[in-house]
Amino acid sequence: MTSNTNRPHVLMMSEITADGKLTLKKGASSKILMKYMAHETELLLHNTRAEYDAIMVGANTIRIDNSFLTVRYVQGKSPIRVIPCSMADIPLDANVLGPDAPTAIAVCEAAPKERIEAIQKKGVSIIIAGKTHVELPLLMKILKEKFGVNKLMIEGGPTLNWHMLQHRLVDEIRLIHLPFIVGGADTPSLVGGMHINTEDEMIRLTLKKFYLCGTNLVSEFDVRYNEA
Ligand SMILES: NC(=O)c1ccc[n+]([C@@H]2O[C@H](COP(=O)([O-])OP(=O)(O)OC[C@H]3O[C@@H](n4cnc5c(N)ncnc54)[C@H](OP(=O)(O)O)[C@@H]3O)[C@@H](O)[C@H]2O)c1
Repeated sequence: MTSNTNRPHVLMMSEITADGKLTLKKGASSKILMKYMAHETELLLHNTRAEYDAIMVGANTIRIDNSFLTVRYVQGKSPIRVIPCSMADIPLDANVLGPDAPTAIAVCEAAPKERIEAIQKKGVSIIIAGKTHVELPLLMKILKEKFGVNKLMIEGGPTLNWHMLQHRLVDEIRLIHLPFIVGGADTPSLVGGMHINTEDEMIRLTLKKFYLCGTNLVSEFDVRYNEA
């Protein structure tokens, strides 16, 4: 567990193909791939959600996958759903804005007031974290201090994963390996963003556990960033 106390402990959890992709092709919903997860692995995913105080995905995942992000396949409480969406332009009919679990949309100060009000009318909280875009370190601090979030899981997509890693906000990674290859140079992979330039910038991981869950390999890592 991290010793950092001004932010939640963060787990990144993803379903990835053998070639490291998160979905079939750019713009496609990952729900298509998730249909091929073993039932035991679906239970693992939902049990993990139930263990966490909050769950976060990027606004684009909501636009493409229209995820619910709730605990459904096991008994347990759904975590608070957190979506960073700088300009508050999340579709108002998104499942995540429904009543199934508490939700907080993180926006920046520049987000139009009328969009913020429309979201609030749905009973959803708004977190203002940043001037021109959502600042993830500030969002983490607010989640911890104002929402009592001690454990946060993030379920992608690649843009959010990259920004969280760049800010050194991820402590652990758990991957559900799907035995498929989908290919595609522009198919979203686990981490997007800008390439690195030197090996010094590689984010180092320690493999701590791997096991079969139904027919899926699951691997678990600690994130060490650039320790020697
Ligand atoms: N296999 C899996 O486990 C899995 C899981 C999740 C997603 N996916 C797939 O991933 C794809 C979507 O990924 P994506 O990379 O396009 O989008 P994403 O990471 O889901 O969302 C990125 C968006 O979040 C918003 N955002 C606001 N503040 C941010 C910040 N500080 N840092 C990062 N993002 C911030 C931005 O949208 P605004 O500019 O509107 O604020 C940004 O474009 C979909 O195809 C989906 O199916 C797969």
